[in-house]
Amino acid sequence: MDTRPQNWENHRKRETLDYFRSKGLLERVRELLKDFFAVKKNLLIYPPHHEICLDCVSRFMSSFREYLRYGESLSLRIVGEEFFFEERLLARESVLYYPLLQELRSKGVGGVNFLAGLEAGELVDFLRLLNLGEEEIDSRGGLAKLLEDNGITHVILDPPGTWEEKISRVREAESAREEYFEAVDVIRELSEQVLHDRRLSVSKANRVVGMMLNRVGENRSAVLGLATLKSYDEYTTFHSVNVLILSLALASMLPLDRNALMILGTGALLHDLGKVTIPKSILGKRGPLTAAEWEEMKRHPVRGADILLAQPGVHPLSVLVAYEHHARYDLSGYPKLNGVERPSLFSRIVQLADVYDAMTTVRPYQDARTPDHAIRVLVKEKGTAFDPLLVKVFVDMMGLYPVGTLVRLCTGELGVVYEQVEGDATSPRVKIIRDPEGREVEPRIVEVARLREKASPDEEVISSVRPEQVGLDPLDYLD
Ligand SMILES: [Fe+2]
Ligand SMILES: [Fe+2]
Repeated sequence: MDTRPQNWENHRKRETLDYFRSKGLLERVRELLKDFFAVKKNLLIYPPHHEICLDCVSRFMSSFREYLRYGESLSLRIVGEEFFFEERLLARESVLYYPLLQELRSKGVGGVNFLAGLEAGELVDFLRLLNLGEEEIDSRGGLAKLLEDNGITHVILDPPGTWEEKISRVREAESAREEYFEAVDVIRELSEQVLHDRRLSVSKANRVVGMMLNRVGENRSAVLGLATLKSYDEYTTFHSVNVLILSLALASMLPLDRNALMILGTGALLHDLGKVTIPKSILGKRGPLTAAEWEEMKRHPVRGADILLAQPGVHPLSVLVAYEHHARYDLSGYPKLNGVERPSLFSRIVQLADVYDAMTTVRPYQDARTPDHAIRVLVKEKGTAFDPLLVKVFVDMMGLYPVGTLVRLCTGELGVVYEQVEGDATSPRVKIIRDPEGREVEPRIVEVARLREKASPDEEVISSVRPEQVGLDPLDYLD
């Protein structure tokens, strides 16, 4: 049994852990907020030593102490009209405490951080200052200054607008990932359908393609990061979604309209559908296939095209993609194509995406290649296996070190390629995650172009590293 790390399974496990952790956590935070606003309100009516105030202060303090089992500080953020606990939306609280949210905003508060060490007295002092009128706060130099003057050190305020960008980025990445898994679910379901009664819900496939097409249009590089998700056990399912993403991203660099991209996308998503007819013993076989097994395997394009031809509503060009995706640019692949000089443009696009994704995934018979190695293979085989023009566009898009590549920089630091820099395929932006001694660091973005300026001409500024060599999963660092 192969036990190499497969990022999707690990990811799911971590997400599950996170979920349970955050479920308990969120409940605590909700309680805390309730008590926080109760103390604030009561302090407007009663003196701090009144029983009612003492009661809710002590409730807040005990919830806060509970919370400290999870983290060292509690960060309540305001973005637009909503409250967030760190990056999680507090939908109910945003409605319940809306007037308070407005008050905080108008008093120049974009976030409140409660730090470990906070005592009841300090909380009350802070809330009494917060309860001052807007004008008085302004005339005394603002809330942050008031806190400082009053020696309040365990409550830190963020100015308005501090969290807008970060939270919208995190939420976008979350919803993109959700869509990815939705696409995985759909292709899984379609394969089951085809296996059982050879019928296929074309509208479901179209919905997934449309969804990914919108994503690609909004933020191509973020979507390409998603295509680094892999699964060892469910190779074909994840592979289909990755090939869809890579094909759409590549095709969106060409002068094609939305209708054409939809047809291409359907072909890309369903290109390996014929594999449902290949026995699992062949698909998952460790080691080389026998000649007979290989012959069987090579039938999946024709079988896939047959299945698709029988479905009403699948465009002939999408069917052609399934039929031709292993034919190769010079027609030396399979099946043999007669009467044409080249496979169709859509087939050539999908073929490139297909080989790139297959090369960068661990398979029963191969280790995963690093993304930069896969890119070099594509370049080497342009004109024979691949359409040379498409290879050029693909490399322009992915860079020589595609997003998600784990790299070592000349400084000795370890990082993950985070973003491509347009027009410079060799110098992406890299997120540093380990110092030269291998210690974890607070992530920061480095411009490889800057390092290149300082380096001597023959110095290697960036080189790729195999994730298993260092026991890291680059995907963990892409958000
Ligand atoms: Fe295939
Ligand atoms: Fe494939």
